[in-house]
Amino acid sequence: MEDPVTVRNHRVSGNPKRIAGERAAELVDDGMIVGLGTGSTAFYAIQRLGERVREGLRIRGVPTSEQSRIQAERERIPLVDFAETTRIDLTIDGADEIDPAFNLIKGGGGALFREKLVATASLREIIVADESKLKDRLGAFPLPVEVVPFGWQFVQSKLEALGCRAALRVRENRTFSTDNGNHILDCAFGPIEAPEDLERRIAAICGVVESGLFVGLAHRIVIGNADGTLEERDRPQCGVDARRKT
Ligand code: 5RP
Repeated sequence: MEDPVTVRNHRVSGNPKRIAGERAAELVDDGMIVGLGTGSTAFYAIQRLGERVREGLRIRGVPTSEQSRIQAERERIPLVDFAETTRIDLTIDGADEIDPAFNLIKGGGGALFREKLVATASLREIIVADESKLKDRLGAFPLPVEVVPFGWQFVQSKLEALGCRAALRVRENRTFSTDNGNHILDCAFGPIEAPEDLERRIAAICGVVESGLFVGLAHRIVIGNADGTLEERDRPQCGVDARRKT
């Protein structure tokens, strides 16, 4: 039988995203290589890490997006190129949806590919979010899928054949471009019954770079609640996790 999910509650005060992000930043130790996530919750983690660095914490960061790189540089967090590091000790990142098995939808900010690569390379992945991100089942948030621009309409038709409506992401009247120069198709599947199976089927489509389904990658979630409480939940150590995470 699997271990139960470990839950810890704290009482703090402040904006739910801020308390979650700042708490996760306290879990970083001296000497670590830290993946720096993207979004308005990860923002607070990077901000707090910057303060800790200026207080003497020695870390090196691996940003998951240009947005996070710019923030980290402003915070004077030393950075290391992902290509030059063989390990990432811990990554702090946000999520758009989190299910009870710690599966995630990510990519609302369009950084899903780098986020997933960094998460995959990380010994521990800590997800920070406010309670609105907790769902019984993934899928109310359209699943972002990064695709190469060449022939994206073909990829769109293949994705729709899996049972969704796939909309090309547009921002300020222009096709959204990821940090990798690709497009995003936001795929409205509705409730996702089998995230792992869907992830595999999407990945098998030629032209897909990556989907925002993160299965088996999150180790801990830190949730800021509107009533000012903070919850930390640890995923039971099982399967791949037991090997990857300490
Ligand atoms: C970016 C992401 C973000 O982590 C996700 O969209 C959550 O963002 P926020 O913390 O602003 O709600 O996946 O690609």
